[in-house]
Amino acid sequence: VKKIAVLTSGGDSQGMNAAVRAVVRSAIYHGIEVFGVQRGYQGLLNDDLRPMDLRSVGDIIQRGGTILQTARCKEFTTPEGQQRGADILRARGIDGLVVIGGDGSYQGANKLSKLGIKTMGIPGTIDNDIPYTDYTIGFDTAVGIVVDAINKIRDTMSSHERTSVVEVMGRHCGDIALYAGLASGAETIIVPEVPYDINEVAERMKHNFAKGKRHSIIVVAEGAGRGEDVANKLTELSGIEARVTVLGHIQRGGTPTAQDRILASRLGDFAVRQLIEGNSGKGCGVIDGELVTTDIDVVTSTKRPFNMEMYDLALRLSQ
Ligand code: F6P
Repeated sequence: VKKIAVLTSGGDSQGMNAAVRAVVRSAIYHGIEVFGVQRGYQGLLNDDLRPMDLRSVGDIIQRGGTILQTARCKEFTTPEGQQRGADILRARGIDGLVVIGGDGSYQGANKLSKLGIKTMGIPGTIDNDIPYTDYTIGFDTAVGIVVDAINKIRDTMSSHERTSVVEVMGRHCGDIALYAGLASGAETIIVPEVPYDINEVAERMKHNFAKGKRHSIIVVAEGAGRGEDVANKLTELSGIEARVTVLGHIQRGGTPTAQDRILASRLGDFAVRQLIEGNSGKGCGVIDGELVTTDIDVVTSTKRPFNMEMYDLALRLSQ
């Protein structure tokens, strides 16, 4: 491998910049030329690549967003688009690609690998919805943001003896709701992975208020329903006022935690070393502290298991 490229794709996440930095600096360390693709697969199809050097990734380890920018690209989901992408890389003499992103980004990487471009995936998404890694880059930061927001919401809910429904991101995965809910003592956590009964939630609320609780926090992952609908229904069923806060994109911005920067740095370097060893079509991850690779075919066709033990714990501790 003499020349590689790196791109970020799909929804951005805090720590993507740290991963780009690690890929670029690790490649240069190993004597490999490295290009940054602007705007994900869309930029690839526009042949929008620029050479990266040590300084082009200076002062970014602490920044949210992605200096390479990102996009969701329809054309690249077609066989013609994928072939064109592979041709563009080949024409530039690029024989390896590191893709930082979520599920959709991995599928694109897999297609390029099958077209003869060596590719490696790095899990970059706040949702933590990629299997075969304990955590994705950005998840820790997003959870911290949600916990911080809930701390603030809790103060005012407590003063007014209200219930707060906090809607968090996670289209198909309830991990942000689960981890932030456990860390902030939420009374109920509503996630797409676990069916729930709104009547039971209302009953628990009433029961807890009767026992002297002065507030209650209900965290809803957006994939399980709209926070507003949950709040309206709870007010109707319980007679206790429920207010809603939708945290939205605030969860995807801001400076990454040390944890996310470390994860990104390890995975970025690891992906480059895997390309040097001739690996392709693999997703990188960290499981129990160890760096691992898994076939992207397997990663994209497996649903991440939901941590029911943690879910039950959150429920037990929140009475
Ligand atoms: O990055 C994943 C994610 O945060 C989802 O949880 C969320 O539904 C989605 O991105 C929002 O993406 P967009 O900003 O493109 O609407």
